[in-house]
Amino acid sequence: MNNLNSNSLLKHVAFIMDGNGRWAKERHLPRHLGHKEGCNRIIEIFDVVKEEHIKVMSLYAFSTENWKRPKSEINHLFNYLEQFFKREIDHLMRDGVRVLVSGDMSKLPIKTQKVVNDALERTKNNCSYYFNLCLNYGGRDEIVRAAKLFALDVKNNDVDIEHLDEEKFKDYLYTNNLPDVDLLIRTGGDFRTSNFLPYQSTYAELMFVKTYWPAFYPDDFKKCLEQFKLRHRRFGGLDEQ
Ligand code: IPE
Ligand code: IPE
Ligand code: MG
Repeated sequence: MNNLNSNSLLKHVAFIMDGNGRWAKERHLPRHLGHKEGCNRIIEIFDVVKEEHIKVMSLYAFSTENWKRPKSEINHLFNYLEQFFKREIDHLMRDGVRVLVSGDMSKLPIKTQKVVNDALERTKNNCSYYFNLCLNYGGRDEIVRAAKLFALDVKNNDVDIEHLDEEKFKDYLYTNNLPDVDLLIRTGGDFRTSNFLPYQSTYAELMFVKTYWPAFYPDDFKKCLEQFKLRHRRFGGLDEQ
């Protein structure tokens, strides 16, 4: 992925879109309507990402642990994701956005796979922005998978064990060529990362906001971006270096 070497301080923003269910519950609505409304925020937030020239946005849409939920909620969620892509694909194309998926799509309903694969295919030559949807994604799953892929390459004599280092390992992650996460925002008021992008977020600035995802609007995101500018990132070094 060329074009990702700009010197901008904020190349990659990642969201844990949490609080959909509670948003709906507070309004005496079924949980799935929280997911529906949550999908409406995605493009609005992504518009700010583009305005701010942030190259990559990752979104936690479905975790490897979310299969524990009732089947009907899961079905609704995938339906809303399909609708999202059908509605927004032209808009994404127009803006030169490449859609990427992190996670194992093979476990998803066939028609969801079809719609998402279509978006991946249609946008594959775009490189202005990257929209990385984390679907059936788990950080531990990703790392174990990467270890297996590396082992396979060693077995096939495609790579030497001595050549594996922290950078090289990234090639085996779902996010392979994407830069590390600079800013990780979790909505919904909980203070945890729930298995989201652990390898990529070791030095991310973390923000936990109380607002539920369906009520998280561009102005809320802009406040996070203001806060990000005030953070001092040292990466283990010293401020004055
Ligand atoms: C996040 O909202 C969306 C997904 C996990 C798919 P939740 O559905 O977890 O909403 P809460 O946390 O129960 O309110
Ligand atoms: C994290 O939210 C997963 C997504 C946003 C897709 P969860 O609601 O599943 O996380 P926990 O269970 O509160 O940790
Ligand atoms: Mg939740």
